Amino acid sequence: MSAGAARRALGSTLVGSLCRWMDALLNAGERCLPGCSAPRGRAPVSPVPVAHDGYGRPMSLFGVLDRLSEVSAFDKPLETARTAVNTVLRPQAVRDLLHGTWLGHPLHPVLAQVPVGTWLSAGVLDAIPPARPAAALLIGTGVAAAVPTALCGAADWSEQDDAVRRLGAVHAVANTVALSLYVGSLVARAKGNGTLGRVLAYSGLGLAGGSAAIGGHMSYAQSSGANHAVPSARQLTTDWIDLGPLDDLAEGRPALRTGEGQGTPVALAVVRRGARVDVFIGACAHVGGPLAEGTVEEVRGAECLVCPWHGSAFDLDSGEPRRGPTAVAQERLEVRYEAGRVLARLPNRHAPK
Ligand code: FES
Repeated sequence: MSAGAARRALGSTLVGSLCRWMDALLNAGERCLPGCSAPRGRAPVSPVPVAHDGYGRPMSLFGVLDRLSEVSAFDKPLETARTAVNTVLRPQAVRDLLHGTWLGHPLHPVLAQVPVGTWLSAGVLDAIPPARPAAALLIGTGVAAAVPTALCGAADWSEQDDAVRRLGAVHAVANTVALSLYVGSLVARAKGNGTLGRVLAYSGLGLAGGSAAIGGHMSYAQSSGANHAVPSARQLTTDWIDLGPLDDLAEGRPALRTGEGQGTPVALAVVRRGARVDVFIGACAHVGGPLAEGTVEEVRGAECLVCPWHGSAFDLDSGEPRRGPTAVAQERLEVRYEAGRVLARLPNRHAPK
């Protein structure tokens, strides 16, 4: 057999195995998506079997990640892990520190720059023999930074939905293995085995890079780090919205009102305090909880609107977060009063161009 034929045979075998594994794991005898005509629950019968996206197209790497996030087989151990994280990180001040609530930005992606940057730089130095001694310093810096980075990630992970947590578990396992490889690399270098040190470091770099891609998919495709109030804000026009008479609003209790979106009504959370009314986008910035079903509480010296889902607290005066898991402020609307009625509008920074 020629080398090319051998490569093709190996590729076909690997793809077939991956497909059968995906088939068994994800579909368990069901058709995968509406419109999919592929037989499920047994080995594919096409001459060159490939995992597919349910519409006859080969499944992309990120399609595979999406499908993995639907696998519920490991939910029980993941729930145990989540309980453990919540127990270890119980003080709210610690959690808020890790979430980045004090910073006004999620802390995990900020800290993640350090291990990713130092390990990548170490990979460059390892490729240049005279520069290799400096690589160990960069690897050590990345290893040290990986610990707080992981703690931030764990705190965020514990307050996400099931699909994000499933993929987050894969991200965490890959990062843990990458970290172990880098620690092994440092040990090997300290013992004078530079070759093994470089092999372990490059292996760690490959794994950390793949894991970073999973993290990016969680952020961008699964919106795990996004501000979930912004899509609603983008729907609203910047016209004044009539929210009805002031007297219809109960004192200190969030109420639901709607604003005119582009084709769909947008939920708003409205809180009356005496003659003053504060109006917020109704979807919580964290993961979209219904703020109009929340409560008004004093948190860290400020009157706050508290989300019913995970307890994020937003200062009624400013929308700034006073307690996580949110790390960002809740979008607030401008308010004016006219003939006993309350009117609100979005600041025009979200106006469509
Ligand atoms: S949705 Fe999580 S705190 Fe609001």
